Amino acid sequence: MSNNKKEMVVTPWEVSGEIDYDKLIENFGTNKLTDELKQKLAKHAGYLHSQLKRDVFFSHRDLDWWISQYEAGNKVGLYTGRGPSGDVHLGHLLPWIFTKYLQDAFDADLYFQMTDDEKFLLKENLTLEQAIEFTYENALDVIACGMNKGKTFIFSDTEDISHIYKLGLKVSKKITLSTAKAVFGFTDSDNIGLTWYPALQAMTCFLQSDREKKNVPCLIPAAIDQDPYWRITRDVAEKLGYYKPAQIHGKFLPGLQQGGKMSASQPETAIFTTDNPDIAAKKVVAAFTGGQQTIKLQKELGGNPGICNIYAYYYYLFEEDDKKLQEIDRNCRSGSLTCGECKAKLSRMVKTFLIDFQKKREKAKDSLNDYFIK
Ligand code: TRP
Repeated sequence: MSNNKKEMVVTPWEVSGEIDYDKLIENFGTNKLTDELKQKLAKHAGYLHSQLKRDVFFSHRDLDWWISQYEAGNKVGLYTGRGPSGDVHLGHLLPWIFTKYLQDAFDADLYFQMTDDEKFLLKENLTLEQAIEFTYENALDVIACGMNKGKTFIFSDTEDISHIYKLGLKVSKKITLSTAKAVFGFTDSDNIGLTWYPALQAMTCFLQSDREKKNVPCLIPAAIDQDPYWRITRDVAEKLGYYKPAQIHGKFLPGLQQGGKMSASQPETAIFTTDNPDIAAKKVVAAFTGGQQTIKLQKELGGNPGICNIYAYYYYLFEEDDKKLQEIDRNCRSGSLTCGECKAKLSRMVKTFLIDFQKKREKAKDSLNDYFIK
């Protein structure tokens, strides 16, 4: 391994180093999302989402089965979640925006888990009260993504425990401590709350089936770091009389600075949905690019969009028009587009996006209660 590349680490608790997504497919034993499957999703949605076109969602398990269940006339469901340990940033929104697309396409109920328990157990400096507060704050972001009222069931692991504890117990009885240690790497110095928590994250895969008293195929759209949970869930599903959950795995939005994903613990790398739009625009202007040191060199040599975080933001979120994206790529490489211009345009887009999103987030306060499980 070359020593200037940091080793890739992808676990539910840590994502770092240079990420090789093909390698993850191999390591995790998942399947590449084929064009045929993308087209099937597009057929039901009415259009091909840019996150599919651009391989932001790139891997899956049993997605073909889940779609075929829908095509056979069966009801299908969705499940995703959030560890509420702080404010939501654009990296978190990526899979939620995609989840909304799937919810519309398949007319699916969405179960959305807020793991305030997990984050309390995990984070030294987070009180339980703070984590619960973030549950409700972050739920506003989920709702602002446009999730459908009446079909979206958000729940807090702590405050809504009566809806989930029985199913969690049934799941936990099927998972041994040695399995949990092998899959998650727990050690004897971890607190015992953490070793129980995976039962709750797994349980949600069966929650809709449990509530409706019939098996509903569940699909989980989420970043690929959560995969270990689904591996243990798949092992216990049939023992409990449920279907194995299907998954569709997403990539991580890069941070604004060089290397690594957008991370809440490094605020300068992240644009939070609650950021003052002007401050967010400044973060964009301060970001790492694939450009040359000087304008003169940029004009002579051109830049490299392949390693540029600004380009990544256009690619992942802000430029859905393929022609315009290609134009940015071309003009950057030829040197006719400078980093200054490119950043200025993106910073305006980010600002406009935030102003609009914050309006939706504000409005969500009126209907927060309607989205929580009852
Ligand atoms: N463990 C996740 C986190 O820390 C939260 C979560 C719970 C989740 N259930 C999920 C994420 C399902 C994706 C899909 O963020």
